[in-house]
Amino acid sequence: MSPRKEVLSSAIDSKPIVEGGPSSMLSPQLQELEATVDSSLRPGSLAEFVGQEDLKSHLHIVLEAAKRRGHAADHFLFAGPPGLGKTSLAAIVAHEMGTGFRVTSGPALLRGGDLAAILTSLQSGDVLFIDEIHRLSTAVAEVLYPAMEDYKLDIVIGEGPTARSIRLDLPEFTLVGATTRTGMITGPLRDRFGFVARLDYYKVEELRQIVERSSRILGVVANGEGASEIASRSRGTPRLANRLLRRVRDYVEVKSDGAITKKTAREGLELFGVDELGLDKVDRAILEVLCKTYSGRPIGLSTLAVTVGEEPETIEDVYEPFLMQSGLLVRTPRGRIPGPLAWEHLGLKAPVASVPLFSD
Ligand SMILES: Nc1ncnc2c1ncn2[C@@H]1O[C@H](COP(=O)(O)OP(=O)(O)OP(=O)(O)O)[C@@H](O)[C@H]1O
Ligand SMILES: [Mg+2]
Repeated sequence: MSPRKEVLSSAIDSKPIVEGGPSSMLSPQLQELEATVDSSLRPGSLAEFVGQEDLKSHLHIVLEAAKRRGHAADHFLFAGPPGLGKTSLAAIVAHEMGTGFRVTSGPALLRGGDLAAILTSLQSGDVLFIDEIHRLSTAVAEVLYPAMEDYKLDIVIGEGPTARSIRLDLPEFTLVGATTRTGMITGPLRDRFGFVARLDYYKVEELRQIVERSSRILGVVANGEGASEIASRSRGTPRLANRLLRRVRDYVEVKSDGAITKKTAREGLELFGVDELGLDKVDRAILEVLCKTYSGRPIGLSTLAVTVGEEPETIEDVYEPFLMQSGLLVRTPRGRIPGPLAWEHLGLKAPVASVPLFSD
């Protein structure tokens, strides 16, 4: 996936109401159109949210208890790779509580005052969603801590020796944070969340249900086998399942009778360069660099990124988690090496020297 495609997909998949968010490369009209298509596929309630059963049942209990007590629910932190449903869950929290939903993101909050302005405009019970919360600056985090803990906002008036601090009361609210990088959340921030959940990759069966639901919403005919074919190539990720569904829909509308079957799904996905494991060109380029160019020797993240023409962050956040989980890539203290299945997937024989994976 090229950087441009990343921007495009995140514009497609984010809600249009990010306050102060960085401007996207898409025109506002196109953004609105894409956001409308995507938000129509977003599950609107816990009942519509497929998979993540443990998380859903815990969430249901926490929300139900808060509703019965008549208070705002505790703060939630959702962590996990892109496209697994963190933003959707945040909106669902507001929906289930019957409250307002405000959206912002870590990089959009430049100064403490930016967050203070949002906090003071919240209504009682509102859900405030901060995406990419691992990218909050220290100054902003300092405003956030007392707000999360006591619903208080500390404001300093004046400067120098005459400066004094006053505490304002904030309405009760629920903060929902999302992060793709759990490791980058500081201890003090993490400790202030009452509920921390990690989203896992989805099973093929769950993705099949998502594809079937989305195809009903999009008005495409897909039989069970066609939906399974798309699901099994979606790398455990609902966003990708929906994206592949749209590509296959394009293919069947132009090249066949418009119905998605196992055969047409395969043809469409192959045409768009998605293989049986759901790997795209960049994934395959990564595996080829590891197996062919470096013959299984450890390679650093930045070298790998430059060689395949991606940003190191994109490699770490978007590509590696799935490759690691599938046994195609292994991180060792000395660098990245191909996993045992990488050789097989490329139709190569693993050299004996690359076998001692865990000797470091
Ligand atoms: N459990 C689910 N059931 C049905 N559809 C889902 C589910 N999870 C995600 N989706 C679909 O996948 C899309 C992406 O989900 P979402 O935007 O919530 O992911 P995210 O975790 O916030 O990703 P990112 O880290 O990139 O912000 C949604 O628009 C929705 O259509
Ligand atoms: Mg999101």
